[in-house]
Amino acid sequence: MAPHNLTTPVRPWAPVLDDPERLRQGDPLGMVGILSSLPEQLEEGLRRAREVVARLPRPERVTVVGMGGSAIVGDLAAALADRYGGPEVRVRRTPDGPRDLGRRDLLVAVSYSGDTWETLRAYQQGLRTPAGALTVGSGGQLRAVSDAKGVPHAGVPEGLPPRAALGYLLAPLLALLARDVPPLAEALPGALEGLARARQGWAPVVPTAENLAKGLAIRLRDRTPIVYAPLPLVGVARRWQTQLNENAKVLAWHGGLPEGAHNEVVGWLEDPRAEGFAALLLEAPGEGVWNAFLPGFRELLAERLDVVAVRPRATAFLPALLELVLLGDLTSAYLALLRGVDPWPVTAIGRLKAKLADRGLGGTPGRGSAEGEI
Ligand code: F6R
Repeated sequence: MAPHNLTTPVRPWAPVLDDPERLRQGDPLGMVGILSSLPEQLEEGLRRAREVVARLPRPERVTVVGMGGSAIVGDLAAALADRYGGPEVRVRRTPDGPRDLGRRDLLVAVSYSGDTWETLRAYQQGLRTPAGALTVGSGGQLRAVSDAKGVPHAGVPEGLPPRAALGYLLAPLLALLARDVPPLAEALPGALEGLARARQGWAPVVPTAENLAKGLAIRLRDRTPIVYAPLPLVGVARRWQTQLNENAKVLAWHGGLPEGAHNEVVGWLEDPRAEGFAALLLEAPGEGVWNAFLPGFRELLAERLDVVAVRPRATAFLPALLELVLLGDLTSAYLALLRGVDPWPVTAIGRLKAKLADRGLGGTPGRGSAEGEI
């Protein structure tokens, strides 16, 4: 075989992403497989959550407290409630609990580990209001506090990274919304079927040339991603960003449209550092207003950036949202494999949590308690 020289294109990704053995070696704990189980997680999670959710009154407003891979379910639920006509859902990513809750509010604390300091503190402060409450997680102090106070708890299976348990974590909120919003309940079965079908095209066995998730990972290999979405899908753009951060271990950002077209666009067109970025534009399905807006924004950005439009195959909101989430998840995991990093560990987050635990904030039971800080 002729040696590579400067004029021979080097394509190191093809052997990685299209070689099952190398994919297995690069992902020893099976992140790709767990992320791919989103449809099954949602199905099982919905089954498990039904009983807990049946005990809750119909809320006028839902306030979700949480951080990171747990909090994102609040953004997705907010988008769905907004689109299908449910209650207002808002998300608070802060240790300061909501103070404005009344009897018709529902406080939902979501923490996979159940030991995240910010979430525990916000939750316990929120419990001082007259609102109803629900907690979601796999145990920890959140479960213990809920049991002690008689707050319903939707349990999820243990042993997963929080960001890889999205289906389980989202299911209780989805079940609650679907209970009270018939159009959402009606859209669910078809959406789960569509998601399982879409997944087939992004599986590890599908070669790069036909696999959109692998293709996007290659596109992002040497670029810093900025993920834009129209406001209804901005939570999905945030999910892409955080999955790229945590799985692929890269810098990434997200932004919402049309706001980004009124400020960030100036930086993209005039800052010389824009050159190394790729903009991913997630499209909202069936939205004439967005479809009219996006081409102009795309054309402007394309003057300086590598721009990729990501269009879901589904034309209805719920299936498109789920499809885009899974596509982003798999893109981030394939990017990790391309970069030769294990998508599973998030050492930096663990180090930060250990520092908090050393100061008695959150952490595992026995290493400190959020109670003491409130
Ligand atoms: C790690 C991950 C993180 C966590 C966050 C909060 O996989 O997704 O973003 O979700 O550190 O922790 P939990 O979810 O346990 O409350």
